Amino acid sequence: MAEKSKVKAVTTRTVLESKRSGDRVAALTAYDAITAHVLDEAGIDIILVGDSLSNVFQGNDTTIPVTLDEMIYHAKVVTRSVKRALVVVDMPFMSYQVDTQETLRNAGRILKETGASAVKVEGGKAIAESVGRMTEVGIPVMGHLGLTPQSINKFGGYRPRGEEKEEAAAILADAKLLESAGVFAIVLEKIPAQLAAKVTKTVKVPTIGIGAGQGCDGQILVYADMLGLTQEFKPRFVRHYANLAEQMHKAFIAYIDDVKKGKFPSKEESY
Ligand code: KIV
Repeated sequence: MAEKSKVKAVTTRTVLESKRSGDRVAALTAYDAITAHVLDEAGIDIILVGDSLSNVFQGNDTTIPVTLDEMIYHAKVVTRSVKRALVVVDMPFMSYQVDTQETLRNAGRILKETGASAVKVEGGKAIAESVGRMTEVGIPVMGHLGLTPQSINKFGGYRPRGEEKEEAAAILADAKLLESAGVFAIVLEKIPAQLAAKVTKTVKVPTIGIGAGQGCDGQILVYADMLGLTQEFKPRFVRHYANLAEQMHKAFIAYIDDVKKGKFPSKEESY
C-alpha cells in the first residue's frame, strides 16, 4: 500500500485543471472508513461526504435532519483512510443559510476538525455572497444546482429541475454567479442533459453531473445506490454496478444457517 506522502493527491487545482485537460472527474460519496479506503484505492478523484448520509446511513427520509456535528464525525472517519482522493464535505441544511459569519465559522470547523479539503453547498443567488467570502478566505467550495435536496420542503418533491425556460435560465445564471464567487466545481443534479451541457460550456469550472446527462465534465453517484445497497431507490440516473444488498442477504442467511446447525465455526476456525 502506498504511503500518504508518496501519493500524488487530488487537489481542487487538479479538479479545476481537468476542465482544460478534458480528463473526466469520477466522484462518489462515502461516509465510513472502509468504503472510503476501498474507493481511494480504486482511484476515485473525489469522495463526497454527502449529506445523503442522512438517508443512506441514518435512515431519514430527507437530508434535512443531519447535523453539522454528525457531518464532521463522518468526515473525520473518511479523511483518516484517504490518501489520494479529494475529500469534500457537504454543509448540512441551515449551517450556511443564516448569514456569512456563521457560514464561515461552520465551514472553518469542517476544514479544521476533519482534515477535508473543501465544502459543498446547495444553491446560487441566495448564498453567493457567503460562497464568495469562503473562497476569499481560503475555503474551497463546490456548488450544487438543479435538484437541491435540502430544499425538498420548498419544491415538494424530487422532480427534475430546469425543464421550464425560467427555471433553466435561473440555473444558468446561478452557475455564473457561483463561478464568479470562486467555486472550483459545480454539481448539477437531475436537470435536462441539454441544459447541463449548456452550463458546462458556459462556465470555466468543471461540472459534475448526477442525472444531468453526458455533457458534464464529471459524474457523481451515491455509492450505496450504485452498489445496489438501496434497492428500493432506483431513479433513471442510477446504474447498478453490483447487487450488494442481495449478496449481503444471502451471506447473512448462510451464516445464520451455519450457526443454527453447528457448522460454524469448524475445527480449523478454532484455537
Ligand atoms: O449528498 C449527496 O450525496 C450529494 C450528491 C448526490 C451530489 O449531494
